Amino acid sequence: MTQTLITAALPYVNSFLHLGHLAGAYLPADMYARFLRLSGRKVLFVCGSDEHGVAITISADKEHTTPDKIIDKYHFANKQAFEQFGMSFDIFSRTSLPEHAETAQEFFLDWLKKGLLVEKEENQFYDEEAHMFLPDRYVEGTCPNCGNEHARGDQCDNCSANYNQTDLINPKSVVSGKTPVVRSTKHWYFKMGDFQERLENYIESNASKWKDNVLQQSRSWLKQGLADRAATRDMTWGIPVPVEGAKGKVIYVWFEAVLGYISATKEWAKLHNNPEEWKDWWQNQDTEYIAFLGKDNIVFHTLIFPMLLMAKENYILPANVPANEFMNFEGKKFSKSMNWGIFLHDYQRDFPSPSQTDSLRYTIAMNLPETKDSDFTWQDLQARNNNELAAIFGNFVNRVVQFLHKNFDGKVPALPERFVKLNDAWKLLLEDFGREDSKELAFEKYESKHLRYFSPNDVALIAAIHFGAKKAAEHYARFRFRDAVSETMNIARAANKYFNDAAPWKTVKTDNDDCAKTLYICSQAIGALSTLFAPILPNTCAALAKMIGIESNTGEPDLEILDRWSTAAFPAIAELTPMASPEVLFAKIEDSTITEQVERMNPTTQTTLPETEPTDIITIDDFKRIKLRTAIVEKAERVPKSEKLLKLQVNLGNEIRQIIAGIAKFYTPEEMVGKTVVVVANLQAAKLMGMESQGMLLAANTPEGTLALVTPESTVSAGSEVR
Ligand code: 2FM
Ligand code: ZN
Repeated sequence: MTQTLITAALPYVNSFLHLGHLAGAYLPADMYARFLRLSGRKVLFVCGSDEHGVAITISADKEHTTPDKIIDKYHFANKQAFEQFGMSFDIFSRTSLPEHAETAQEFFLDWLKKGLLVEKEENQFYDEEAHMFLPDRYVEGTCPNCGNEHARGDQCDNCSANYNQTDLINPKSVVSGKTPVVRSTKHWYFKMGDFQERLENYIESNASKWKDNVLQQSRSWLKQGLADRAATRDMTWGIPVPVEGAKGKVIYVWFEAVLGYISATKEWAKLHNNPEEWKDWWQNQDTEYIAFLGKDNIVFHTLIFPMLLMAKENYILPANVPANEFMNFEGKKFSKSMNWGIFLHDYQRDFPSPSQTDSLRYTIAMNLPETKDSDFTWQDLQARNNNELAAIFGNFVNRVVQFLHKNFDGKVPALPERFVKLNDAWKLLLEDFGREDSKELAFEKYESKHLRYFSPNDVALIAAIHFGAKKAAEHYARFRFRDAVSETMNIARAANKYFNDAAPWKTVKTDNDDCAKTLYICSQAIGALSTLFAPILPNTCAALAKMIGIESNTGEPDLEILDRWSTAAFPAIAELTPMASPEVLFAKIEDSTITEQVERMNPTTQTTLPETEPTDIITIDDFKRIKLRTAIVEKAERVPKSEKLLKLQVNLGNEIRQIIAGIAKFYTPEEMVGKTVVVVANLQAAKLMGMESQGMLLAANTPEGTLALVTPESTVSAGSEVR
């Protein structure tokens, strides 16, 4: 395998990207691509927008616009967000391009020719008011399995059951709210059963390398037996079924979106003036193909896509599908409608500098949901930025560069006569290390052998870089990104320790030669870190390369293919290279900045949704699910360090609850005591600044931009129902 093809799931363009997207697929894919490129590997990293399917038409309905407007709006916004967050795609394409329709139709016709599609008339819900067949997400009802009243047409989010939409109890059209009728419609069904055995062999032949969650989901589908599956839908938005008499039918989005990776590669090849080059990737047994995606996309990449590739012949299959679980936000699932979570454009607005982008990448990388769901919190971002990036990595760089400016004219020291052969000795030391597996053993064995040039402290740092880089590489190769990042930070820790132990501020007075050597080694350590941190912190490493006068390479596409990784421990910066004046790599994030973000998450202080967000219509049943009650405020106090929050104890008649409310700018604690307010009594408890809030107060926005509490007009007792 001489080259690696990397794909990251094509995101639906029906909403903006948030942190969960980065954690699920895109950040690990990008780190992997950059790591491989820095290791001298030929890489093609492909992504784009998934622009068909019901998700898009539903969004268009909601935003009172057309699908083509929706896809443009979100495609360009997402493309830009990905660029800002450093995704090093070779191409970011879109499935609405005519070239993609051609590819998908070519596959479809090939399935037909090979007898892999069967035509069947089946019953489906039809909305007589909207004059349309209802795709699965357009119909809701009661789950035939668990009784959940809000089950979708094909799947229940409560019990995960899959069923036919006509099995739904009490079905309702999402478009008109009316009960649909059942009508028969013709579709082309893919004979998935024909691939059962081949797919079983494929999955089992990869079992030793794949993650448990990926294997389990794939095996469980196979165990149920692969049944015929509709490869077409009654819709106008999508890729038309390319046969006579198929008007109003399109190819089912999952059967064409996965082919979007191939179309995107074709587009890349065209842009590279070599239109046939896409075959060098997809039809080349020397390509190792890795597909990154979140856990909701697994079987589409381990079964459906491989099946389509097998059917077409000559195509390679995914060698691994390192799917991640989900990342939650402050303990709760990300929710667009509840405005819970962080969109990338929001983070960018509040933390615009390139190093802040890197802090986010680092924090997510350290919390990747690799084996189970994980959590992102603002406090963790602050701690990772301040205590790790700034206090360890940034601090080391700063100390070295400052020292050089103070004592060595701002340049990498020239090696004194005594150490003039240092680089030769360094090479020998690394050759010795190359024969060992463990840092500890190597250190023990070679510490004294190289004493003529290197102190034990020097040997320890060079060993930390050499073995740290090697271990990080092993973690990357096994898709253990959190470990890879921790390992890299350990190298920065070792560098700081080295500086402390070598104490150049002392030797500068007592042994200037030794001091010069120490700073020469420190400068090389900065060079090494600028390579080894590049997959995680590309902006910082590019800035660092500039600062220390070396050519920047953070593993972007189209750079010369060179193995910088395994040579990272060897000196790369020449003597007397000038260093730019020291600049702080990572500014500290203040408590107040974090408090502000946390407060913004408080539902009572949220501003109204942006204009582009539709106001969703809910039914009376939806409304009834919200339990509103009156409550009397018994105690109120300010929350330390917060301008917005009050901590309240409210009496709901039969219980006292603590509510953290974002009203401190408009009400004093004294004013609050004794007031009767209206609270949402069945809201899931949330933590705000470490305190539990067991409900939420109702307040209205005033024209002056303040908040006015909603209170009953006449006296009512605590705990009265509000309807
Ligand atoms: O989950 C999603 O956002 C899908 N659009 C992913 C598609 S991946 C591949 F099929 F393109
Ligand atoms: Zn159910």
